[in-house]
Amino acid sequence: MLTGVELQEALRAAVRRPDPAARLLGVREAMGDCHRCRLCEGRKSLVFGVGDPAARLLVLGEGPGEQEDLRGEPFVGPAGAMLDGMLERVLGLRRHQVYILNMVKCRPPRNRNPQDDEIEACRPFLRAQLASVRPDLVLVLGSVASKALLGEGITAARGRWHGLAWPGGGARAMATFHPAYLLRKPEDKRLTFEDLKLVKAALDVLPPRS
Ligand code: URA
Repeated sequence: MLTGVELQEALRAAVRRPDPAARLLGVREAMGDCHRCRLCEGRKSLVFGVGDPAARLLVLGEGPGEQEDLRGEPFVGPAGAMLDGMLERVLGLRRHQVYILNMVKCRPPRNRNPQDDEIEACRPFLRAQLASVRPDLVLVLGSVASKALLGEGITAARGRWHGLAWPGGGARAMATFHPAYLLRKPEDKRLTFEDLKLVKAALDVLPPRS
């Protein structure tokens, strides 16, 4: 398993590849059979990410749940069905048209929140995934991802744009409520709809890619 300088070099080489799918493949290969934090102990799959490697919108969740761990794909359980509906109804996008991933790639036991050291162990891979896909916009779902990426919980962060930078690039990020939270608290769907309308407006005026 690559660590330290070797890992940094492998990730740097991966994100320099000319093709987005090849960049992501390089990042996945650098991750290998990851044992960099305790979450590897209970996982069935390492849930890396799915969707269009060159997507203009990247969707970031917190960590895989039971269904995701079983199937090796993010957001395929009940929260995933809710996310698919949000993407389709408000943004007019199917899941294969965006890139979907999580802060941590392995399921936390009993679906607890990922801990800070687990998030930090996975962060180089998230950063390299961002630098591979090079999205224009990032949709951040829920408080865990919002705190880890934007430094603020969801109530403070949602509803406005944030700047996000990674080596060699950057994007604008919008935070909104996590679909799993909306399943428990449907009255907050109205606020999520407002956040997604801002994302839709931004998507609609993106200049063509050069
Ligand atoms: N919740 C998340 O944050 N991510 C998933 O992949 C599934 C549920």
